[in-house]
Order: sequence, then structure tokens, then C-alpha cells
Amino acid sequence: MRDVYVIGVGMTRFGELWESSLRDLFVEAALAAMDDAGTDRLEAIYVGCMSSGLFVGQEHIGPMLADYLGRIPIPATRVETACASGGAAILHACLEVAAGVSEVVLAGGVEKMTDGADVTSALATAADQEYEVYHGVTFPGLYALMARAHMHRYGTTREQLAKVAVKNHRHGALNPKAQYPFEITVEQVLNSSRVADPLRLLDCSPVSDGAAAVILASEEVARQAGNHPLVRVAASAQATGTIALHNRPDITRLDAVEQAAKEAYRQAEITPDKVDVSEVHDCFTIAELCVMEALGYAEPGRAAALVDAGETGIGGGMPINPSGGLKAKGHPVGASGAAQIVELVQQLRGEANGRQVENARIGLAQSMGGTGASCTVHILEGIS
Ligand code: COA
Repeated sequence: MRDVYVIGVGMTRFGELWESSLRDLFVEAALAAMDDAGTDRLEAIYVGCMSSGLFVGQEHIGPMLADYLGRIPIPATRVETACASGGAAILHACLEVAAGVSEVVLAGGVEKMTDGADVTSALATAADQEYEVYHGVTFPGLYALMARAHMHRYGTTREQLAKVAVKNHRHGALNPKAQYPFEITVEQVLNSSRVADPLRLLDCSPVSDGAAAVILASEEVARQAGNHPLVRVAASAQATGTIALHNRPDITRLDAVEQAAKEAYRQAEITPDKVDVSEVHDCFTIAELCVMEALGYAEPGRAAALVDAGETGIGGGMPINPSGGLKAKGHPVGASGAAQIVELVQQLRGEANGRQVENARIGLAQSMGGTGASCTVHILEGIS
């Protein structure tokens, strides 16, 4: 297999973008990525999208987006793994370039969630309908169960969960693409409306519109482009866990994240301590803690102590979600995995402006669908 490089990145602002349709969003992100790459050469398109059918009544978006990008007749495929769809689209594009099938591929994600659909029900289709959703459970409810179990087993506190949101909003306030670019306090989190006890409004990622895209290329094309420092895809891995929480031996553990991370570290030939900056799937505050533990950044039950110590902020020893994460940047579900790669590439090139992590050379992106049933992990390496 050949090495794969990211030669261009682009994304829309995330938020309630009523003036833009699903196709507008993806085309804007794709054109920005092509502009950044300095090429309009494309041989295939992979687009991650969780549920355009339920959110805007449109399936078959591969050809629709290729058409509106002016790219008929190259292959255009939609990839779906719930909220990990953007990460999975990038993984499939990486495979295509690594296999030598294509030299330059566009991969990204898009979701248009605010056009009036029953968002909570649409999102719940990523859980087990027969055994979870028919019994009335929603995604905030499922993550609330994980939070309760983590608090019970490890003594994790309500304040520690709140600190994850406070840190991510502090980062998001530095990101012009973020949906909620403002700072919040622990008290505001603790006093925000209860959504699913113990989770409150400010523990939750929001409902968002947005798109993100990257251009992946072979080493030869990347070296010819030459308009940015090179960023190599050192690992692209995916793993699967049970769709239903009750089929897991321990609901505080994310087995698919552990598996995908193990495979990613093997491909990149690194250990977790070598990662300089991470973008992880903080759909709810508890998710960031469980993911840190599954990635091997902390022993089970010890992630919250690192947040307490300020280690996960920009300037800390283990910066996590400098973009603001899903919590503050927004979570247009199919786009989030691709937006993580956009952020990491900007960090590794030294182009992250006010939120730059100093001396970032290795970046890790972790994206997951449902309560962690699908997980992708990418490791990127900046090459100066
Ligand atoms: N973070 C910060 N502020 C938020 C927010 C969030 N997650 N969600 C809404 N707000 C703000 C809104 O901007 C609005 O502010 P305003 O009154 O100043 O305009 C206010 O809170 C109320 O917004 P509203 O849209 O009425 O909220 P809601 O009650 O309909 O939805 C949630 C709030 C938390 C239920 C919703 O965002 C949600 O379901 N999030 C989870 C999404 C999810 O499950 N994703 C998949 C993960 S696996």
C-alpha cells in the first residue's frame, strides 16, 4: 500500500445555516478544499452523511453532490456509519489512494439538521430500535446512562463533566467556524436545563448544519502541489462494537474505540504518549472522558483528573479538541469526522491561528457513531 497525504482542507461555518441547502454546504466545503490544495483534479468522491433522507428527504446524495460540483462522471459514493460517517468516508478514500486506484480523491461529510425534521427521532435511528428506542431511550438518555455508570464506578463528579464543556467552549471561542464561539462557566453548565439526568443542556453537542472536506493524494501529487507543509496519513483504522449498550460487559468502556486506536497506533508505529494534539468525539461531556480512556490517554476512571489539572486544554500536555469539539464547534453529524481532520491539518501545518497548539507534529482524530458502535481513528503526521 502507498502512503497517502492530505493536500487540501475546507469547511463551512457550523450552525443553523438556514440560507444554505445540503448541496450548497457540501459544494462550499469541497471548493474550499480544492482551492486550498491548489488543484481541481479529482478522480473519486466519498461523502459521509448520516441521514439526509430523514433530515431533508434526499437520499442518493453521491451523484447529486458530484453533479453540483461539476464532477460527472467520476465515481461518487455516500458512506454511512451514523455520526462517524465523515471519518469513514475519509477512510475509504485513503484506501483508494493507498491501493493505487486513484491519485487524488475528495472525501468529506455533510449534514443539514435544522430544516424542521424530528431531530431526536432521526438521531435515535443510530441506536438499536427494537431494544433501546422502542423503550423510549434517546441519545442523551443513553449517554446519561454511561455518565451515571462512570460516576458510580470511578467517583467522577458532575463538576468534572462540566469542566469538559467549559474547556471546549474556551477553545471554540477561538474558532471562527464554531456554532457557539463563546465561553461558559462550570456554574452555567450545572444550572443549564436538565436534558437526561445527569446531563444538562451545556453537556450536549448541538443540532447543526455544516460540511467539511479534504483532498487526499498520493505522495507524488502531494510533492508536486507543494503549497503547504506536507501532512501524511500515518494511520486510518476502523472498528465495530455492539449497537446496544446492554450487550456490553461494561458501559463505561468503548471497546470499538480501543480496537480502532490499537490498530491505528500499530499502523503509525507510535504509542499514545506520542500524540501532540487530538480531536475526539465529545457528543456529550461524558463521551470525551470515556474516549480518552479508550485511546489510552488515561487509565479507566482517570481521565477526569487530567481535565481537572488543565492537561487537555491548549497549552496543556495533552491538548484535546482545540477546535472547540462537537460541543462548541457544532455537530452536523455526518460532517464531524471530516471536520476533525480539517482541524488537525491546520494544526500540523501551523495554520490554526489563535488556537495553535505549539510544536504539533502528530495529530489523532477519533470519531464514533451511536454510543460507540462504529469508530474511526486517523493519525496524521506533519512533515516539515
Ligand atoms: N449547547 C449550547 N447551547 C445550546 C445547545 C447546546 N448543545 N443547544 C441549544 N443551545 C441554545 C440555543 O442556541 C438556544 O439559545 P437562545 O435561546 O439564546 O437562542 C437555547 O440553547 C435553546 O435552544 P433550543 O434549540 O430550544 O434547544 P433544544 O432544547 O431544542 O435542544 C438539546 C437542546 C441539547 C436537546 C439539543 O441540542 C440536542 O438534542 N443535542 C444532542 C444532539 C445529539 O444527540 N447528537 C448526536 C450525538 S450521538
